[in-house]
Amino acid sequence: MIAKILLDKKREGRALGSAEIRGLVDGYTKGEIPDYQMSAFAMAVCCRGMTARETADLTDAMMRSGACLDWSDLHVPTADKHSTGGVGDKLSLVIQPLAAACGVAVPSLTGRGLGLTGGTADKLETIPGYNAGLSLAAFRKVIADVGVSMTVQTQEICPADKKLYALRDVTGTVASIPLICASILSKKWAEGAGTLVFDVKFGKGAFMKTVEEATELAVAMVDASKAAGRKSAALVTDMNAPLGYAVGNINEVAEALEVLRAGTSDGNGPSSVSWLEADFVRLSVELASLMVSLAKDMPLDDARRLCDEKLADGSAYRKFREMVQAHGGDLDAFDRRAKKGAFRFRLQAMRTGYVSAIDAEKVARVALSLGAGRMEAGDRIDPYAGVTLSVKIGDRVGSRTPLATLEKSGSPDGLEKAASELLAAFEFSPTAPAPGNLIVKRIA
Ligand code: URA
Repeated sequence: MIAKILLDKKREGRALGSAEIRGLVDGYTKGEIPDYQMSAFAMAVCCRGMTARETADLTDAMMRSGACLDWSDLHVPTADKHSTGGVGDKLSLVIQPLAAACGVAVPSLTGRGLGLTGGTADKLETIPGYNAGLSLAAFRKVIADVGVSMTVQTQEICPADKKLYALRDVTGTVASIPLICASILSKKWAEGAGTLVFDVKFGKGAFMKTVEEATELAVAMVDASKAAGRKSAALVTDMNAPLGYAVGNINEVAEALEVLRAGTSDGNGPSSVSWLEADFVRLSVELASLMVSLAKDMPLDDARRLCDEKLADGSAYRKFREMVQAHGGDLDAFDRRAKKGAFRFRLQAMRTGYVSAIDAEKVARVALSLGAGRMEAGDRIDPYAGVTLSVKIGDRVGSRTPLATLEKSGSPDGLEKAASELLAAFEFSPTAPAPGNLIVKRIA
């Protein structure tokens, strides 16, 4: 195949054929098409866009560049959720075992954090012994035995995406809806789940800054997934403020466990947060309900009731515990580790009023500076590092009311400076702000 002819065609805004796209992706994956031609292709797509058919062809070709999993021998419906990433986004820790507790198998290949966005695998690895690097064979066994597994995507899945994403990252070609859509979907389709639910976030702490961009991506992913024979839906959700209270790793797992354990006698007893009201609990139940409703062909209201019940009676927690054990993890050891804690600094309010905004991006930057995330792939994470908010938007504060606790291990150096930066994330108003909507749209 002559790549230059395809590049001319794309530059002129003409749609490429299915075989042409397949040839380009295959050639690039095998090293027959060089980086300079593939980056020209990515830039042409950024400028000229792609039709829905081209995007589906690109996704399919990328998916077929590696292993594609098949769960038909399980004889149970399968589903997974994908989030475009947020701050304090520990949703998967609740959603995936919750959907599994409702009788849906959840094969979830997940990622590590980079930049401001945390990774589910990093959070799970704070549980002593938890192996988030299963082989595909071991992943398959955990799904068959427990019904849910969360592990890092292996090298066998979508090598074309890995190669192309690294190229896009350094050629200014990440910001393209068809390329983002193909990148996310190829990995999810390769995972083989019959139902895919997307949480597409917008706002200060999200990859997409506006509702319009997030909606465009959500519609593209749902339409392409349906066209490829998957059941699919998406929620477009507000990520201007952190989800829940914790932003970090150990503290996020502890917060998720508090929610999962609310109906059980395990752990530290009843939650100190009003968990039923918590934003991240409501969003978890909503996303899990969509997975269950689509996967089991059940009315959404019935799926919501089932999810509420399985969360409240501890079934979701028991599923999570089984999954952790199957991955070699020890939740009792996690509880001891979380209690031990590290160096802390408490930030207090200096004025009276209502919390009217908490800037997710600023909170994430502070957590990252404390060591909660990676600036570069390969950086080491401090599992204790992070920010735990004491207030949410709408809460009334007075002078000295705790706003947040900052934490890190090693030494207390830097905590006080980070706290003064964190203060800039808070806005206050003299009257209570109008409640905002966390879930802005449902795309079905
Ligand atoms: N996440 C991905 O996996 N791919 C993209 O292109 C953007 C975000």
